[in-house]
Formats: sequence, structure tokens, C-alpha cells
Amino acid sequence: MTALDARPVAPGPLAPGPLAAGPLTAGPLVAGPVPPAAAVPTPRRRPKVVAHRGNSSVAPQNTLAALEAAWRAGADAVEIDVQLTRDGGVVVLHDDSVDATTNGTGRLADLDAAHVRALDAGSWFSRAYVGQRVPVWEEVIDFLLTRPGIDLLLELKGPWTVDEAARVTAPLLAAGLADRVVAQSFWPETVGALAEAAPQLRLGLLVVDAPDDLVDRCLALGVVACNPFGLLLVQDPGLVDRLHAAGLEVMTWTLDEPEQWELAVARGVDAVITDRPDRMAGWLAVQPAPAPA
Ligand code: G3P
Ligand code: CA
Repeated sequence: MTALDARPVAPGPLAPGPLAAGPLTAGPLVAGPVPPAAAVPTPRRRPKVVAHRGNSSVAPQNTLAALEAAWRAGADAVEIDVQLTRDGGVVVLHDDSVDATTNGTGRLADLDAAHVRALDAGSWFSRAYVGQRVPVWEEVIDFLLTRPGIDLLLELKGPWTVDEAARVTAPLLAAGLADRVVAQSFWPETVGALAEAAPQLRLGLLVVDAPDDLVDRCLALGVVACNPFGLLLVQDPGLVDRLHAAGLEVMTWTLDEPEQWELAVARGVDAVITDRPDRMAGWLAVQPAPAPA
């Protein structure tokens, strides 16, 4: 079983995705033999490269160091996860708890922002990153303002109310960054809260399955993007075309191997979310030119 196989793809509504930190490297997307390159259709477009939790293969995920590494690697966008602390602070963290990616312990919902900020978020990854902190939202805003040319794919974990969502959207809008951001969630109610808090913000829905009414759900939510788990590209070869036909963008995750990128390009996705943005950019640079539209 590969890392991708282990992710939930079966049933369930547009349910929350897994919150546990999995391995940062994924195995082949296709369980069987990888088709030879000649069998893969000519690329239809060059997808954008989105650095998953920053350039998380070379720096600790969801830290400023990982964001910086993504920017320096030339990623088109950086993906991060945000959550609320007990006292309402917006911090950048993937898991429910701080255990796996800091030197602390405990559920984020039980910790205050000041406590979380005092933790070391780099030493678990490498001694080279001792002193990295769990970023607060203002630092992400500052990163975007000082690093032109890179966009943000912002994931809100879990259910957020409109007031809570506004803690994220208000500083973003005040900084004039709305056009560099897509905000996404597995939770449709969170997408709805974002839409109410900031109607001008572009939104995405993350999905681990593709029910028959997926397009209708996306259109009802008003999202501009529907972002499927990578294995869905194998299980449902027509998915990307159906989403595109409805005017939706498609960003797929988390693809770290050339054979996975090849499939994503052949399907025509708009963006690939990867732990290896530098490698993917290098791989894209030597691919055949996209077919004329
Ligand atoms: O952006 C999509 C991807 O990040 C969703 O999965 O668990 O890595 O947040 P996860
Ligand atoms: Ca994420």
C-alpha cells in the first residue's frame, strides 16, 4: 500500500480530510505498473506548482522557513493550514495537536497562542531549523507582502464560524492581498463562512471523493476551485474535464513523484500541490510543450 492509497477516498460526504501528519513522501499514485511516457497524452497545459505546507521536503512544514524555501524554489504558490488556538489566535499548523511538529504536547484547541508561539517547530525536522516557530497569521501576511510573485493557497482546518473566518479574511483584505489568495477547506460550512466574511475572496472545496452532485455542490458554494485528492484522478479519469466544463479550477494533492505529475498534467489540472516544488519545477522544465488550445 502506498501513502496515497492510505488516504481515505471512499465514501462519505465531502468530509473532513485526515488531520494526522502522514509521511511527506508519497509512493506511486498508480498501484500497478506505471504507463510508459509514450502512452500518456500530450500535456494540455503547464500546471502551477503549489508548495505543500511550504517546501516541506527541505524545511519543517508550515514554518516561515518552509515558506521561504518555497519562494526561493520558484513555486507559484504556497499552501498552508491554519487553525485557531484556545484564545482565538490564528496559527499555521496542520495537526489537531502540536505533538508531531513541535517540541510541545497537547491539542491546539486547549493551548493559548502565546504558549504555542514559545514552542520550537523546527528541531523535530533538523537541527538546522532549531528556533523556527509556529507562524501566526500576521507573519504570513508579511511574507506575502515582502515576497512578490508567490500566491497563497490557504486551508482552514475544521469548522469555522463567520466571525472566526473574519479573523483570517479581514487582515488579508486590509493588506490588499485578496487577489493572491485562494482559501479552501474540506468543510463546506467553513467555505460558506469564508464566503460570508469576504465575498470577494476566491474559494476552493477540498474533496476526497467525487459524488455525482459534486459540481452542483461546488456551484452552490460559489467556489472557483474544486481540489481533489490525487488518487481521484486515477479512479475518475473524467473528473477534471467535468469540473473544468463547469468553470471550476482544479488543484490536486499531494503529488511528489514524476509519474504522478505526468498523470496530473495529462488530466489537465490547473495546479499540483507537492512537497517537492523545486523538483517538480525542474521536471516541468523538461516536459514537452503543451498542445495548442
Ligand atoms: O491542500 C490540500 C492538502 O493540503 C490537503 O491535505 O492533510 O495535507 O492538509 P492535508
Ligand atoms: Ca493542507
